[in-house]
Amino acid sequence: MGNATAKQAPPLLHLFKYAIFEFKMAQKKLFRFGQIKTFKNVLEYPENIKGNWHNFFGNKNPIELELACGRGEYTIGLAAIHLNKNFIGVDIKGNRMYIGAKKALQHNLQNAAFLRTQIEMLDNYFSPGEVDNIWITFPDPQLRTSKAKKRLTHPRFLRLYQKILKPGGSIHLKTDSPQLYTFTLLVIEKYGLQLLKKSGNVYAVKHPPELAIKTFYESLDIAQSKKIHYLQFCLPKTISHIDNELQEILKQTENNAIVT
Ligand SMILES: C[S@@+](CC[C@H](N)C(=O)[O-])C[C@H]1O[C@@H](n2cnc3c(N)ncnc32)[C@H](O)[C@@H]1O
Repeated sequence: MGNATAKQAPPLLHLFKYAIFEFKMAQKKLFRFGQIKTFKNVLEYPENIKGNWHNFFGNKNPIELELACGRGEYTIGLAAIHLNKNFIGVDIKGNRMYIGAKKALQHNLQNAAFLRTQIEMLDNYFSPGEVDNIWITFPDPQLRTSKAKKRLTHPRFLRLYQKILKPGGSIHLKTDSPQLYTFTLLVIEKYGLQLLKKSGNVYAVKHPPELAIKTFYESLDIAQSKKIHYLQFCLPKTISHIDNELQEILKQTENNAIVT
């Protein structure tokens, strides 16, 4: 017993170490928040950008978004592959965005930019048809049925994307979550979206370089599915308002899973 007590670190020391760690993290965040304010490729809650992105980039090239971009691996990766297109990473977390924005500046990627805002406010920053394609990379799967409306492929979000997407523009989803993948397939079926590409295991088959870009969350393998799922789909002209029906199906599926 004496030995066990000797091995245990005093709780106060733990608390002290934790407080130092938290302090350092807060300092780092503050530094990054200060830095992105000086970056010409980061816009934070900008005014008057709606309809003006081509002026911002200084060209008429297509514009693609990476939603929930985190550190912006896709924004930078796609910008490096497609120099004739513009890419904008969107996320609320400025300290994550700092990493991608800094890399883009270091590599002089003039076709990559970052927008700090909530995805829910996208139509404040883009005019109808201003966006050619949307990438959604490893979004939080929001596993609880009660949180389904927060999933970035929920029809609530699809209606928002529809406001800014060019007709025929497509949405790409890359996720490690089998649940989000299945959910999105259900939405595609129920709402009559056009499925263009589907893969339950991207790396098991030959894939284009765009799908080989790896993100930080991909490397964490939180879902532990060992598989990366991918979908590409288009939106119909109108997205039916059958969200209550969708929610019922989700609840039913959840109940059945509990019973079996
Ligand atoms: C799981 S992380 C994925 C980050 C990155 N795509 C990756 O794969 O490493 C989800 C990201 O979505 C962002 N996010 C979640 N909900 C958001 C919202 N409503 N508006 C803006 N960003 C959001 C979070 O800040 C976070 O950076």
